[in-house]
Amino acid sequence: MVTIKSKKEIEYMKEACKVVAIMYQEIEKKIKPGMTTWEVDQIAEQLMKNLGAIPAEKGYNPGIKGVPPYPASICISINDEVIHGVPSKNKIIKDGDIVSIDTVALKNGYNGDAARTFMIGNVSKDARRLVEVTKQAFFEGIKYAKPGYRIGDISHTIGEYVKSQGYSVVREFQGHGIGKAMHEDPGIPNYGKAGRGIRLEPGMTLAIEPMVIQGKPDILELDDGWTIITEDGSLSAHYENTILITEKEPEILTIL
Ligand code: MF3
Ligand code: CO
Repeated sequence: MVTIKSKKEIEYMKEACKVVAIMYQEIEKKIKPGMTTWEVDQIAEQLMKNLGAIPAEKGYNPGIKGVPPYPASICISINDEVIHGVPSKNKIIKDGDIVSIDTVALKNGYNGDAARTFMIGNVSKDARRLVEVTKQAFFEGIKYAKPGYRIGDISHTIGEYVKSQGYSVVREFQGHGIGKAMHEDPGIPNYGKAGRGIRLEPGMTLAIEPMVIQGKPDILELDDGWTIITEDGSLSAHYENTILITEKEPEILTIL
C-alpha cells in the first residue's frame, strides 16, 4: 500500500532524514584511509544516537529464509561490493577506495534513508566518473518526481542515463516508498518503461537509489547472507536520498 503522509508525518520524516544528512556530513570529515569499516560503523551509530535516532538497519530482518538479521548500524560497501557490506574489524579502508555507505535513521517512528559513495584519497579517474554518474542518475531521475508523472518515468530515466554513460544498473534491488516502515510500496526499479507504474502524488515519500556497476550488471551474494558484490569484479557505486513529492518540485529530505 502506498501511503500519503500527513503534514505531521512529513515533519517527522524530515527530522529522521535530517539525522542521516548530518551524519553524512560528519562521516565525510572523519572517514580516512587506515580506518576499519567497524570504526566507521561505531561513529555513525553514535552520531545517530546523539541526534535522538535509532540506527534502523541494526537487527533489520528482511523476513527471507536463511538471511540473518542485519548485524550492524550501517552498510559499508567498498569498490566491487555493491550494497549491504557488513562492517568488520578486519576491513581496512585504503587510499583510492570508493566506499558506499547506506544508512537508515529511525526517529519518532519514521525512517530516513540515504546512501553516499565516498572517494578516499587519490581515486582513479574511472572510479570518480562512476561515482559522479551514479549521483547524477539520481538527479536525472527526480526530474520526473512530481505529479503528472509515474514511477516508471523515474525508473526509465535513471536506467537510460546510466546506460548512456556505458554503465549498468543493478536489477535485483530497487528504491522504495518509506515512512513508518523502512520499505514501503511502491518499489522503484532503476530501469523500466516510461509511463508505467503508479502516478506520483503530493505527500508520497520515496527513497530513490541508483546502484551502478562499471561493468556487467550481474551480482553475487556472499556467504554472510548480506554482502552483494559485482560478479565481474568491477567497481560499483550507490547514491540515495529520501524525497517528498509536492505539488511542484520534489523536496530532497536527506540533504541539508
Ligand atoms: N538502507 C537500505 C535501503 O536502501 C536497506 C539496507 S538493508 C539493512 O533500502 F539490513 F541493512 F537494513
Ligand atoms: Co533505500
